[in-house]
Amino acid sequence: MLPWLSPDQFPLYLAPMAGVTDMVFRGLCKELGADVMVTEFVSAEGILQADERTRKYTEFDDAQRAVGVQLFGADGQRMGEAARKIVDWKQPDFIDINFGCPVNKVVAKNGGSSLLKDCPLLASVATGIVKAVPVPVTAKIRIGWDSETVNAVEVCRLLEDSGIQAIAVHGRTRAQGYTGQADWEVISQCAAAVRIPVIGNGDIATGMDVERRRRETGVSGVMIGRAAMGNPWVFREAKHYLKHGTHLPAATTEQRFDLMLRHTRLAVQSRRYGSEIQALRSMRNRLMAYTQGLPGSKHLRVLFCQVESIGQLEGIASDYLAQREQAACAA
Ligand SMILES: Cc1cc2nc3c(=O)[nH]c(=O)nc-3n(C[C@H](O)[C@H](O)[C@H](O)COP(=O)(O)O)c2cc1C
Repeated sequence: MLPWLSPDQFPLYLAPMAGVTDMVFRGLCKELGADVMVTEFVSAEGILQADERTRKYTEFDDAQRAVGVQLFGADGQRMGEAARKIVDWKQPDFIDINFGCPVNKVVAKNGGSSLLKDCPLLASVATGIVKAVPVPVTAKIRIGWDSETVNAVEVCRLLEDSGIQAIAVHGRTRAQGYTGQADWEVISQCAAAVRIPVIGNGDIATGMDVERRRRETGVSGVMIGRAAMGNPWVFREAKHYLKHGTHLPAATTEQRFDLMLRHTRLAVQSRRYGSEIQALRSMRNRLMAYTQGLPGSKHLRVLFCQVESIGQLEGIASDYLAQREQAACAA
């Protein structure tokens, strides 16, 4: 039994999102209530070649636990070796296998969601890793390759038989990408079909969504992805809603700008992205995500597209807040 999935708990996972859930963002989400996190996926081959960049993606600090490192690949033995190497480096709480990635580059190498089309290979990958490491192994799947071949229930049973200890199910097919709606009916069927915990994933944006999925399906926890990108407070809100049945007020404009500045400063300090200007470039999309729902967000996004230093970002924040105050006084 994974301690964070004991029957009295209902953990909120931060979904792995390549290019988004780096060590800095994960730390912020943890502070805001995320219980479990998974690193951005890395290829087993990258790990085996001791590629520095790949290794960087697997970094985390102890405050972020429980943390899993997510691997993709299609060769159970090589993936098992890679998983062992990661365990030796970092002792993550678990290894997670990506059976959901829809990206062509990954699918073309038989990785990610392509394994949903080849159940024997999928089972051999799972078994290869389970046998290789002393830590629990979990998996993340989509509900199938396309609408004609939805096979998540069968895949969950196979994974359970392979020794996988929990499964996150994203309620879309590979063909859907990120379009349409997640099918929580299939997620619910998966939860009913296996004894290991199933974590439901797809389109959760509020505490009310979390409460509804907990009430209506047999999932043991939920995983939140895109909603957290612009609103990492979603974890705090969800916890409050689960406990009290009421909503917390949304983050204020000041809190949004504080978080944007803090996130950016941490990204620069971490030196993960190189110089300050390089870090700011890699932060631009992230900053844009934080403008969701702010009045004048279009103009802010134009400014963020060009921001090159913390000083500039501080200037944008103070101008925005001063203008807002002026407008409030004039009203
Ligand atoms: C930008 C982006 C990157 C992603 N990268 C990964 C990844 O590395 N590994 C993975 O298993 N899923 C990845 N996903 C899928 C998410 O983990 C999640 O399953 C999906 O976004 C659905 O959840 P949501 O509706 O809460 O966003 C990614 C999604 C996005 C939007």
